[in-house]
Formats: sequence, structure tokens, C-alpha cells
Amino acid sequence: MISKTMQEAINAQINKEMFSAYLYLSMAAYFESTGLPGAASWVRAQAAEEQEHAMKFFGHLLDRGGQVTLKAIAAPETSWAGPMAAFQAIYAHEQLVTQSITSLYELALKEKDYPTQILLQWYINEQVEEEKNAAEIIASMQRIEAHETAVLQLDHQLRKRGKE
Ligand code: FEO
Repeated sequence: MISKTMQEAINAQINKEMFSAYLYLSMAAYFESTGLPGAASWVRAQAAEEQEHAMKFFGHLLDRGGQVTLKAIAAPETSWAGPMAAFQAIYAHEQLVTQSITSLYELALKEKDYPTQILLQWYINEQVEEEKNAAEIIASMQRIEAHETAVLQLDHQLRKRGKE
């Protein structure tokens, strides 16, 4: 039987995972409507993964004789300044989720809840992957931006012909 404290913390995490799914879905709509169907597809897949994350906790609570209490899901943002801003928001969000998973793990240690500790190890690894994916996309975007800046600088140089 899972402790009430652990149960409450896991229910709160289910809500965070469902919010994550909502956030990614909102981004899917944003990317789709701004002509970026590839990015939309990426975040749609991510939204589905977030629901799976929530369901893993959902199943764990029930398997342990706990009670699942679903809470209201907050409304996510609906637009971002551009794709870079959106992926930076993803990265920041995933860092928050990592902190939340770490806190849950610390609680599971304190509670001597070994099954939850084992379950959370999967999430700890998953968060390494989640942060890495977002960071890699941001790095690629930064390289594209740097390239654009270099092209603009070259264009500026070329414009000087015959004016010096
Ligand atoms: Fe469920 Fe993106 O962490």
C-alpha cells in the first residue's frame, strides 16, 4: 500500500504530465498554423508521450492500492515569439519537470518506498532524454541563425562595392 504523502505527490505529478501534454498540443496547433508541420508533428508525438508518462503513474498508484485523483489541467500558452522561443520554452519546461521528478525521488527515498523509487528511475532517464532532445533542436536552430547572420554580414560587405 502506498503512503498518503506519496500518493498525493504522484497525483500532483500526473497533473503535471497532463499539463505537459496540453502544452505540447498547444504548440502543435501553433506550429501547424504558422506553417511548420514538421515541428507540429514532433510536438504532437511529444504530447502523446506525456500522456503515457501520466498513465504510468496512474497505473502505479492503482497497482499499489492508492487512489487516483485527477485535478483540473491549467491552460497552456497559445503562441510564442517564433520556433526558437517555443523550443526554449520546451527546454525550460522539461527542466522544471526534471526538478519535479527529482523531488518525487527524494520523497520516495524518505518514505522508503522502494517500488516508487524503481519506477522513478525510468523517469529520471527519460528526463535526460527529454532535455537532450530540446537542447539539440535549440543548438541546430542557433546554427541556422548564425548562418543567417553570416549571410547578412556578407551581404553588407558586398553592398560596399563601388562606394569606397
Ligand atoms: Fe513527462 Fe516531458 O516529461
